[in-house]
Amino acid sequence: MAKYKIALMPGDGIGNDVMDAAQIVLDKIGLDAEYIRADIGWEFWCKEGDPLPQRTIDTLKACDCALFAAITSKPKEEAEAELIPELQGTGLIYRSPIVRLRQLFDLYVNLRPCKAFKGNPLNYRDDVDLVVFRENTQGLYAGVEFHPLPDDLRAQLEAHSPRMAAFQGVSGEDIALSARIFTRAGCQRIVRRAFEYARQFGYPTVTLVEKPNVIRETSGLMVREARKIAAEYPEIELWETNVDAMAMWLVKNPQDYGVLVSSNMFGDIVSDLAAQLVGGLGFAASGNIGDDMAVFEPTHGSAPKYAGLYKVNPTAMLLAVKLMLDWLGETATAGALEAAIAAVIAEGKVRTYDLGGDAGTLDVARAVADRL
Ligand code: IPM
Ligand code: MN
Repeated sequence: MAKYKIALMPGDGIGNDVMDAAQIVLDKIGLDAEYIRADIGWEFWCKEGDPLPQRTIDTLKACDCALFAAITSKPKEEAEAELIPELQGTGLIYRSPIVRLRQLFDLYVNLRPCKAFKGNPLNYRDDVDLVVFRENTQGLYAGVEFHPLPDDLRAQLEAHSPRMAAFQGVSGEDIALSARIFTRAGCQRIVRRAFEYARQFGYPTVTLVEKPNVIRETSGLMVREARKIAAEYPEIELWETNVDAMAMWLVKNPQDYGVLVSSNMFGDIVSDLAAQLVGGLGFAASGNIGDDMAVFEPTHGSAPKYAGLYKVNPTAMLLAVKLMLDWLGETATAGALEAAIAAVIAEGKVRTYDLGGDAGTLDVARAVADRL
């Protein structure tokens, strides 16, 4: 029996292209693993009404971890219009399968390293080395949303918050509400993981990115918990910034920051900004990590117009493989893979179109594999 069972979920769009790239590298590494393909993505939404079929969830439960590539997401009405006729009008609502996976398996950490590789012509600066810890299960992504606003819920809100007076006279039909839910334990565990990471890898600071001056209760809870946890890590400084100012500071002085920690939505936004500092989403990988399960993915989308052209940069996917190897405890192999990726970038001979080259997705994967 193989040491590891790993699910491979290419998804749709360019998902297949970059998963093939990952497979080339995995084959070269020769990890003692059984790879199991699992269905996920737009095709299964259209045909079955579920982009994350139960059989895939069952497969994942039997695996140590998974690699996921890309999925197309569309707003509610557009998604419904693409269902097969038999499924239309049956009340199915599209929900992002990756968000569901994060919640279903309680993958509460979204780890997003953004490191400038030497020689990457897309680097904003060459000295950026940021790691974003994004809370991955709560906040605005909890899915507790209403439109129209139900009358009984409205009455309760009015009874509990004088601020609701501002909406007097607006009909429930004309109000949409998305709840931002944080729990104390949810705040504590993401902040703790950020501090643990900073300690393990020698980062001198952890920066909490929130907005407690305005969003007093949710951001406020996160700040209060972070201060308590920070006291347990005297060698690491806790910096507190507001998310809007942070966007500015990240453009101005990104080299000053190390580990960042934030809630789900702010972390989503800040991590795209951070990714762009080191070449864009083609260089950004994520680990969705829980206590005993993890799903690794490139942070980019599915870029449907490039699907099957084997044109896109697979670096983010290969970096996702690196994160997976780290998580499995295969740290030497993870280090070797990162060094091989770095060497291919530094050498600059095999470059996809985003880097001004004409190499294909699989050429990059082969160049990396050749160095392993
Ligand atoms: C990401 C993506 C997802 C998110 C989308 C595809 C639902 O943007 O992983 O950052 O918002 O979390
Ligand atoms: Mn995102």
